[in-house]
Amino acid sequence: MSNIDSINKEERRFKVSKDFSENAYYKSEEQYNKLYKESIDSPDTFWPVVANKLSWNKSWTDVFVWDDYDQKKFTWFKNGKLNACYNCLDRHLETKGDQLAFIWQGEKENEVKKYTYKELHKEVCRFANVLKKKGLKKGDRVSIYLPMIPELLISMLACARLGIIHTVVFAGFSVESLIDRIKSSESKMLITCDGGYRNGKTLHFKKKIDEVLETHIASLISIIVVNRVNDDSVILNKDIETYWSNEVFSDDISDICDFEIMDSSDPLFLLYTSGTTGKPKGILHSTGGYLTHVFYSFRVIFDYKPQEVFWCTADIGWITGHSYLVYGPLSNGATTIMFEGVPTYPEPDRFWKIVEKFKVNLFYTAPTVIRSLQKQGDDFPNRCDLSSLRVLGSVGEPINPEAWLWYYEVIGKKRCPIVDTWWQTESGGFLLCPFPGAHVLKPGSASKPFFGVVPEILKEDGSRADVNEGGNLVIKKPWPGMMQTVFKDHERYLKTYWPDNKVYFSGDGAKVDQDGDFFLLGRIDDVINVSGHRLGTAEIEATLASDLRVSEAAVVPFSHEIKGQGIYAFVVMNDDQEISPELVNDLRGYVAKKVGPIAKPDKIQFSTSLPKTRSGKIMRRILKAIAEGKEDVGNTTTLVNPEIVDVLKAERV
Ligand code: WTA
Repeated sequence: MSNIDSINKEERRFKVSKDFSENAYYKSEEQYNKLYKESIDSPDTFWPVVANKLSWNKSWTDVFVWDDYDQKKFTWFKNGKLNACYNCLDRHLETKGDQLAFIWQGEKENEVKKYTYKELHKEVCRFANVLKKKGLKKGDRVSIYLPMIPELLISMLACARLGIIHTVVFAGFSVESLIDRIKSSESKMLITCDGGYRNGKTLHFKKKIDEVLETHIASLISIIVVNRVNDDSVILNKDIETYWSNEVFSDDISDICDFEIMDSSDPLFLLYTSGTTGKPKGILHSTGGYLTHVFYSFRVIFDYKPQEVFWCTADIGWITGHSYLVYGPLSNGATTIMFEGVPTYPEPDRFWKIVEKFKVNLFYTAPTVIRSLQKQGDDFPNRCDLSSLRVLGSVGEPINPEAWLWYYEVIGKKRCPIVDTWWQTESGGFLLCPFPGAHVLKPGSASKPFFGVVPEILKEDGSRADVNEGGNLVIKKPWPGMMQTVFKDHERYLKTYWPDNKVYFSGDGAKVDQDGDFFLLGRIDDVINVSGHRLGTAEIEATLASDLRVSEAAVVPFSHEIKGQGIYAFVVMNDDQEISPELVNDLRGYVAKKVGPIAKPDKIQFSTSLPKTRSGKIMRRILKAIAEGKEDVGNTTTLVNPEIVDVLKAERV
């Protein structure tokens, strides 16, 4: 049964205990309804109450203004001044200086680092002074290519302190993807490392660093290398590369560093995400609106209470790690956990052991992780003490009711609400999510809109969909965490997100039921969601086609039991190519090298041609049906080569 089928039949309802509701920020549906309405009807009175919980150096003159409606340029908290790093660290020093801000658990069980707010503040100030010493200034860009080690969080906050725009590149991406992003963002600095530990193996980054150097990227003036695995084969090029520890512990580096006072609309960071064309988009986020959104959504959706320990398992290379491992929890003065390893190493109880060890209260992960751990059986969680858990979160892809129920019963012991949070790199923070003390939960539903978010489901013709009718999920006006633009490509921002110049197109399909609860139905554009990671089909297709032996390629998703979606590639080789199992491995390896291992096709089917329309357009709808194993692939009359459909069906892999 597909996720969508089982979502359609879902009739179970879950409500948290009275005790939970009474102590939650939002205690009832009525209270939520009233405040939600106020957030839409009177943003000028609603948002100041929220934003004033942060520290501003100067208050705003307007809560929200359209700077240019046609260009979809807007500002939240116009003329307000603040600093994101100050809000995440300095402002807690007086009251929470000795409380843990950050716990890092290495892949090795005995490798743990704990930082109080005072200690983290000191580390961040020292590294910010290194950035200054290297000549970096407000508005410059820095690329960060690090696995999940403390230096990643420290360098992000150090950039934010100085108004430097960080762009984190997921360390699982290939060096070619990294080079593209350094070039596109014109980064002056790269922060990386000599390697890392994953799944019991040591990874070496030496070749990657060398390749970046050999590319001679014009903007790049400095590379800082974290010595993580003590790889002595790494020889630094003294003109441009230095070790992190040599810089940070240099005598002239002080523990104190003034922060830069930023305008609310100044960019905080840039994060590249896959789109429907081969070129990733640089999503640019503001300081004031973004921070207000992630600060408040973290607080009220996880129902965070002082002293609680929060663990988001996402890699910081993705937006989830930015918003809900770093900026959301730290701006609230929470204790946030970062884990270097994977859920199944050395055993599939690793996550539950960490929950037990650090008494995690609030836990946030992805459906793909839940499904893969569910498969390992209940013994692994059952042998750990999970009684500290209070709220569970899910993100990244639709959660199927079976996984939801396992999470609820076996992990949360029917005590903990599950907040299924729907949002995107572009949205900065949650857009749809239950308020755990207020809403009745339905497995597989992301519930209701967050404050300030006005969603609607539109049919193909632009009219409103009926109750329970699927359509395009659009948002009718900007919310505080909304992206500002696509870096150096405002046209692409307008074309992709505001195609009718009236509403924001999310790229997702959804439906709303009779109670106003939203159910997400997956992407409607050419984006594949593999284990909650967004990948553009166009990027994978272009990569396959760049292998000289390949004539043409089309990539579509198919339902995958664990990963949610898998990657199915239809490939046409040049005439003289012999098809062999080695060729499949070769092409998969090629994509892994060029884009990253997560982009590796699960299945490759060779063909002599692809189904095309008269104008030469590949009919993806038909390929999707074939990849899903469907007998009925729909109308084929517009094809120039309808005969290929039966061949593809017969040779399906
Ligand atoms: C999908 C991740 C269903 C969706 C925060 C979205 C979800 C894309 C959910 C964004 C959810 C994220 N239910 N689908 N709770 N959360 N998605 O930019 O397709 O990496 O458009 O941001 O993930 O992925 P991104």
